[in-house]
Amino acid sequence: MSAASAGLIPSTESMTAPIQVHIEREIEALLSSLPKPDELSAEERRGIIARYTAVLEGNFIYWMTGAYIAAGSDAARAKILENLHEEVRDSHPAMLRRFALAAQAVPTDSDATAVYDNLTNVRMFIVKLSPVPIVVTMALLEGFIQRFMAYLADLARRQGSSAMEYTDVHGVCDVTHTLELYRALEAEMTLSNGSTPTDRMFEGVELLRTLIQNVVVNQ
Ligand SMILES: [Fe+2]
Repeated sequence: MSAASAGLIPSTESMTAPIQVHIEREIEALLSSLPKPDELSAEERRGIIARYTAVLEGNFIYWMTGAYIAAGSDAARAKILENLHEEVRDSHPAMLRRFALAAQAVPTDSDATAVYDNLTNVRMFIVKLSPVPIVVTMALLEGFIQRFMAYLADLARRQGSSAMEYTDVHGVCDVTHTLELYRALEAEMTLSNGSTPTDRMFEGVELLRTLIQNVVVNQ
């Protein structure tokens, strides 16, 4: 009988399950706080698309690369590499730029300034290269983006755009992908042997949540 099956150490599954619940709750809270598109002015709709673009276009690959460098398990690295491969091969930054252009929502200096502080906070979290917290943060990011796409496409349509390649590609609900992502987290947690203090587990999640709120509402 192994130590885990004898109940001496917690199984990795029992460690990741509450994390998954936490992340799902964060995503639900973010989605339910979104303003109704028909209650927004054209400028407010443009601003959301522009700030989203200002944040994601130049940072998603950087953040994923940080996660790749930080991760030590084969499972996590394979999963992240698959993601990076797709990002680069299909040039998701170019795809996002086309989406913003078509919605006439290319970020301006003031859109970039509006998210600067909160974006910097997430960047400064990434530089710590803390394996488990970074993978947890990327799980939130991916989960949120997927569920946010229908809303973003709605905003763009209301701005007169019909170019939906970016939102179509990123809005696919991929159950296998989510499952693999949490398996990667399990592998990473096993490797770190529970060495991540609880208060640091969601450090990146909290910073990313604040940044996403800032994308939605120009604070
Ligand atoms: Fe992407």
